Amino acid sequence: MSSLLAELSGIVGDAFAAEGFPSELGQVQSSDRQDLAQFQCNGALPAAKQAKTNPREIAEKVAKQLRANSIFAKVEIAGPGFINLNLRDEALAERMQTLAADRELGALVTGRGKTAVLDFGGPNVAKPMHVGHLRSAIIGDSLQRLFRANGWTIVSDVHLGDWGLQMGQLISEIGHRGLAPIYFDPEHVGPYPAESPVTMEDLEELYPAASAACKADPKRLEEARSATAELQAGRRGYRALWQHFVDVSEQGLTREYGSLGIEFDLWKGEASVEPLIGPMIEDLKSRGLAVESEGALVVPVAQSDDKKELPPLILVKSDGAVLYGTTDLATIVDRVRAHEPDLILYVVDQRQHMHFEQVFRAARRAGYTGNRTQLEHAGFGTMNGPDGKPFKTRAGGVMKLYDLIAMATDEAEKRLAEAGMAVDYPEDERKDIARKVGIAALKFADLSNHRVSDYIFDLARFTRFEGKTGPYLQYAAVRMQSILHKAREAGFEAAAKVVLHTPEERNLILQLLALPHAMSGAEHNRAPNILCDYVFLLAQIFNRFYTEHHIMSETDAGLRSTRLALVALTLAVLSKVLGLLGVEVPARM
Ligand code: ARG
Repeated sequence: MSSLLAELSGIVGDAFAAEGFPSELGQVQSSDRQDLAQFQCNGALPAAKQAKTNPREIAEKVAKQLRANSIFAKVEIAGPGFINLNLRDEALAERMQTLAADRELGALVTGRGKTAVLDFGGPNVAKPMHVGHLRSAIIGDSLQRLFRANGWTIVSDVHLGDWGLQMGQLISEIGHRGLAPIYFDPEHVGPYPAESPVTMEDLEELYPAASAACKADPKRLEEARSATAELQAGRRGYRALWQHFVDVSEQGLTREYGSLGIEFDLWKGEASVEPLIGPMIEDLKSRGLAVESEGALVVPVAQSDDKKELPPLILVKSDGAVLYGTTDLATIVDRVRAHEPDLILYVVDQRQHMHFEQVFRAARRAGYTGNRTQLEHAGFGTMNGPDGKPFKTRAGGVMKLYDLIAMATDEAEKRLAEAGMAVDYPEDERKDIARKVGIAALKFADLSNHRVSDYIFDLARFTRFEGKTGPYLQYAAVRMQSILHKAREAGFEAAAKVVLHTPEERNLILQLLALPHAMSGAEHNRAPNILCDYVFLLAQIFNRFYTEHHIMSETDAGLRSTRLALVALTLAVLSKVLGLLGVEVPARM
């Protein structure tokens, strides 16, 4: 289904074309003065410039055509030549019925026939997930839901960090402690134990210790480097140990993402492209794209028009180890082969922008993207503590996702109690509601900022039931559910055909009909905050409608049934958009 704005722009564009102007000038937008008009088109101004005439004259000619179209109730010229438009109530009601009858609620087809690989999450094996990974997961998941709703075929990949120095650090730490000697015995032939010698908890203790040891002692760092190189070169014992790290981490991560309602199609990692790396390097060397530089192998990516010097992408270090950029480049080769995507979108911290610029340029120079695949980095800012620095625990450590969710859930439970909500529900249900509210608070707070901005973590604000928060919107949805429930119990039906009477009803319909526009804007800008703005405004407009009108107590059956239809559609749209943001609505609160 196309958006109302697109439909109106089509009509006004045709009118401009009939006057001999480009139809693009007919672009219609929501009026910024809703008290004067619902929509406006300012195309007469540039048209007048082109034709060197008076804009009001052109606007008048276009308006004359538009007045002949029964969709418009009023077409007026304002100021120097703005065209103000109001629609007939019947036209609005008709479009509302079409939207309500559409199971997908006006889903766009912007992605029909197109495939995108979405790279988000990006946690590192053995290292705890931090708030940056949380942002990537929340934003990436929302984009995956939105793109799917818009018709895209999506392949999401968590792209585990499992091939870097931290793996060598862990291996050598375990070697030092003598924890699992069999993996270090060069004489060992035959299989290794199926059971991991380390648990997730062990890894959480081992990695910081290993990392501290490497910082304190250059010899230990050297050992870790060489263990990394040996692992990558295929030393059997190290590979077996590494596989245990990956398996153990993956189990833990699946649980953590699961608790946020986030799923991935692929659980690949940096290491999964290992077999492609050798041939890729040969290919790049043979075509002169990769060159030696100070003992390392690099791909120069600087361009003459660069404002800042872009260093080359390092493929292989002097000790033979490959790097983050190498696996990312090989991953492009892999994804293009496997999925022939139109787009590979990386939802990764903005601070990695240069890295992606290097990788993308190398991929394009090498022709690895074919003529179809677009590469794009959708960066995001940091979640900061009250001190304006990346959020940490009270003790100054990395905040673990698990603890963060627990904190949010506790806070939500407090808020519910304060508000007297869910107090007499069974314990299990109350806990479940608190969890949903806590997660909604975290997700909505994150998504409602433009992804590139930093924001301050403030759980007390995020969990409020008033203002622009996830819990406010959940509560709005629950209230609509309960109105509809009561109506059903009373035997009141929603109208199949609505008849509008009041400005509040009109405003509500206009906002409902703006859904496809919000969805296409959010896709276009990779910006879930557009959906947050949309849905918050919808809830506010609904509130005004609800305060000004009787519904259950309305005695006129016609008015009542129209209003119930509006409540039903508002709930459907609200739930849909919350779904795109990954926010669950409890059955009651
Ligand atoms: N593991 C990386 C990190 O923690 C993020 C991975 C992002 N994805 C990618 N293809 N590089 O910073």
